[in-house]
Amino acid sequence: LQSTVTLNNGVKMPWLGLGVFKAEEGEEVVRTVKTAIRLGYRSIDTAAFYQNEEGVGKAVKEAMQENGVSREELFITTKVWNSDQGYDSTLRAFETSLGKLGLDFVDLYLVHWPVKGKYKDTWRALEKIYAEGKARAIGVSNFQIHHLEDLMADSKVVPTVNQVELHPQLSQQELRQYCDSKGIQVEAWSPLGHGKLLENEALRAIGEKYGKTAAQVILRWDLQERVITIPKSVNEQRIAQNADIFDFELTGEDMRIIDSLNQNKRFGADPDNFNF
Ligand code: A2P
Repeated sequence: LQSTVTLNNGVKMPWLGLGVFKAEEGEEVVRTVKTAIRLGYRSIDTAAFYQNEEGVGKAVKEAMQENGVSREELFITTKVWNSDQGYDSTLRAFETSLGKLGLDFVDLYLVHWPVKGKYKDTWRALEKIYAEGKARAIGVSNFQIHHLEDLMADSKVVPTVNQVELHPQLSQQELRQYCDSKGIQVEAWSPLGHGKLLENEALRAIGEKYGKTAAQVILRWDLQERVITIPKSVNEQRIAQNADIFDFELTGEDMRIIDSLNQNKRFGADPDNFNF
């Protein structure tokens, strides 16, 4: 649960984290994040857009005290929202996020979506934030190959991470190969396809062999594919279940079956055609 991957700048990031998109600000997100840290999670993925950074910050502070966990053991990710993109506005948005989280630094700061005409200036702001040590690593989210090419043509710092929608029906092979070739670590959002993949018979059948659920099979597939994964749950049993994936191994045949489920199917927005 606390095993890590070393990013291209030497910073270590846990393979498994908790996603908190749609965890409600206030009691729900505080309880959820505290539960996860108590159960051994060390990585929490939020965003300004999720409107729960204050709760995440409160939970982190309380969980550190209650569980004897230090700030250095935790890995906190947040993201700049689209309407804040641009150089100065990103610097301001970052300070706002840091203030809400009640932290001196974040571990990873991401450009949430590749907003046309804005993301390069946004990236320059992230480079400054990184140079000042206020983010231990910087990266992007929902970038396609052409966005990455365009960004890297004009910038010094290669993104450490690209966080994208990725699950068995959207396996992102081409993007993953490209990111691997550039040293960019791929991270999966909605690894469970918003929970919609959990009825899949093939995944359930694989799980049955190991006494695991379809969710655990998908998350294990992520690990074996070397994709960072951040399933969202606000339920203690499911938070625990999603972390119980380090005691079995999918066979090559299992992996091939899961790979064959790809349909290039998005449940979320298209990074080349979104209007928010
Ligand atoms: P809940 O928060 O009530 O547990 P994704 O991370 O792919 O977006 O999926 C998140 C959705 O899947 C949420 O609706 C979450 O609901 C549900 N979920 C998360 N983990 C599990 C699990 N192990 N079994 C069933 N549903 C899950």
